[in-house]
Order: sequence, then structure tokens, then C-alpha cells
Amino acid sequence: MTYIDNLINELYEKNELADNELLYLIKNIDEESRKKLLEKAYETKFKYYGNKVFMRGLIEFTNYCKNDCYYCGIRKSNKSAERYRLSLEQILECCNIGYNLGYRTYVLQGGEDGFYTDDRIVEIIKTIKAFFPECAITLSIGEKPYGSYERYYEAGADRYLLRHESANVEHYGKLHPRELSLSNRKQCLYNLKEIGYQVGAGFMVESPYQTEENLVEDLLFLKKLEPHMVGIGPFIPHKDTDFRDKMQGTLEKTILMVALTRLLLPKALIPATTALGTIHPLGREMGLKAGANVVMPNLSPTKVRAKYSLYDNKICTGDEAAECRYCIERRIENSGFVVDTSRGDNIEWKRT
Ligand code: 5AD
Ligand code: FES
Repeated sequence: MTYIDNLINELYEKNELADNELLYLIKNIDEESRKKLLEKAYETKFKYYGNKVFMRGLIEFTNYCKNDCYYCGIRKSNKSAERYRLSLEQILECCNIGYNLGYRTYVLQGGEDGFYTDDRIVEIIKTIKAFFPECAITLSIGEKPYGSYERYYEAGADRYLLRHESANVEHYGKLHPRELSLSNRKQCLYNLKEIGYQVGAGFMVESPYQTEENLVEDLLFLKKLEPHMVGIGPFIPHKDTDFRDKMQGTLEKTILMVALTRLLLPKALIPATTALGTIHPLGREMGLKAGANVVMPNLSPTKVRAKYSLYDNKICTGDEAAECRYCIERRIENSGFVVDTSRGDNIEWKRT
């Protein structure tokens, strides 16, 4: 057995690896060991969640954003972005469509949009909970003060997604303007955990200036934070950003990161992301085979979908949008998995 195979076995058995070992593995893995790693990741997922794939209905309710992250298509300084906001009624209509498809969890994602004050967010959460009491609500609306996170949780929000984007200070600084800091981002994640949310962190793979050492830091940060969910997708350039000519992240590296994350955090809920589906027609299916176990079909009204443009060529935004929910379920089943539309909580979480 090769050194790398030993590392893979150790990772599979102990769910941890030292930084130099992870780095060696990422830098040197060959085709054969890679296959083995992906199998071990799938086996680990199977042990805790079987062959289920959990469905979350994604509602992109605003593309206004006060931030100016260099990679993102809805950054404040992109004057060509056509901005939109959904009303409470429109959001409820999306939930209703999801409910009729059997989905028992909704993800409210948006830019950091001052229009949605804490009072408005609380109103949205309470109204959704009044109509759909058995459904889980996930928020993905960025960095907020501790007190705001508390108010949303008390109103009934169950989960919060906030990718850390990069766990290395220098690299974080190359992706974000000065106003945004990695330390605040991390603090938000720890605050969310303390309040009681199921928390999701995550990062882009092969974002500009990212090194393999940075990826190891991302993985080790995840190991330390122990989030309940982890979102991982390839970086994809957006034509209206300064990163328009940067290289897109590769399928191979992204899948490798999904598998390593599964082995480090065996019970995590890991989506096969839309970005993964965008860089390869079977990207999400490959993600599921490498240890991912969540898919987030888009429930946003079809006429706004193309406007929630974080990166170029995003799938499920064109003429096929209305059919996309059937398409994704068919894809999941065709790959040998079982669609699960329940709340799909992390098996270690209970509301406090
Ligand atoms: N390529 C890939 N992912 C992106 N995101 C934002 N911009 C891009 C891009 N150009 C991701 C970020 C964010 C999530 C909602 O979308 O990681 O957290
Ligand atoms: Fe959206 Fe196939 S999943 S079109």
C-alpha cells in the first residue's frame, strides 16, 4: 500500500489528518487513490444518511447587496445587475410551490440588503412558520450583529448558511474589500452556533489567488468549527467583475474537496451545488457520488432567476427553469439515490 493509501485509510478511520498530510494528499493524489478516496467518502455518507438526497427549496429573495466582494456578480458596484426584491406574498407563493412538491425546508437567500430590516426578516420568518409550521427555515443573508441572529432564531429560523469563503487572512483580503474581515466572518459563524442554529460554512474552490495551502486551511477551519452543513463549489468568473478573466475552478479539485470534507465531517449535510452543476453537466451527480447528500432546487419565480447571477452561465435560469425540479429529481434517481423531501435535520442537532 502506498503512503497516500495509508493516509486515506487513516482519514477514513479517524476523520482527521494533520495539515502536512492533507497538503501531501491534495498535491500528490493519483487517479487510483483518488477513486479510493471518493469511495470512502461515499461509504462514510452512506453509514449515516444511507442513499438519501435531501431536498431544500431555494428562494433567492433579493439581489440587492451592500457588499462588494470581488468575485460576485451581484456586488454593489455592478451597475449592470438588474435588481429585484420579492414581496412577502411572493416569498409565500414560492414556499407554497415547494410545499406542494413535498419540500419541508426553505432556504431564504439574498444579498445583504438593508431594505429587509430585522423587523421585516422576523415578519417573513413568522409568517412562513404560521403557514408551514412543520417546515425548517434556513437563512442565508450574510453578516449580522449577534442580537439580530438571536431575533431570527427566536422567530423560528432553524439554520443559517454563511460560507467563510477563505480561512486564510491574506487570501480573504484578495477576494474582499477592506470593510470585510475574516475575523468578523468567523465570529458570526461562532455566534450562530452558540445561539443554537444548524450552521453552514463553506468555500469556493480555486478562487483567484487560492493556493493548495489555503485549501488545507479551509478544511482545517471546518474541522475546528464543526458546522452542520458545508457548501463547496468551484469559483466561476462573472463577466461584470474584475475577476472576469480569472480561471474557473475545476471539477476534479471541487469533487476532491467535497470528498475530503465528508471524511473530516462524517455527519455533515453537504450540497451538490449549482455551481458544480454549472461547470459540468453531471457535476452534481458526481458530487453526490463523492459524499454530498443535499440538493437545493431553485424555487424563485422563473422571471427573476437569471437576475440572481452570482457567476456566468448559471444553470436552471433559462427556459428549463420551470422543469428544473422534475429534472433534478430524475437526475438523483437515475444516479441510484433516493429523493428525501423531509426537513432533513443534521442527525446531531436539536432546537434549544
Ligand atoms: N463563483 C462561484 N461561487 C460564487 N459565489 C459568489 N460568487 C461566486 C462565483 N463567482 C458563492 C459564494 C457565496 C455563495 C452564495 O455563492 O461562495 O457564499
Ligand atoms: Fe434545473 Fe435540471 S435541475 S434544469
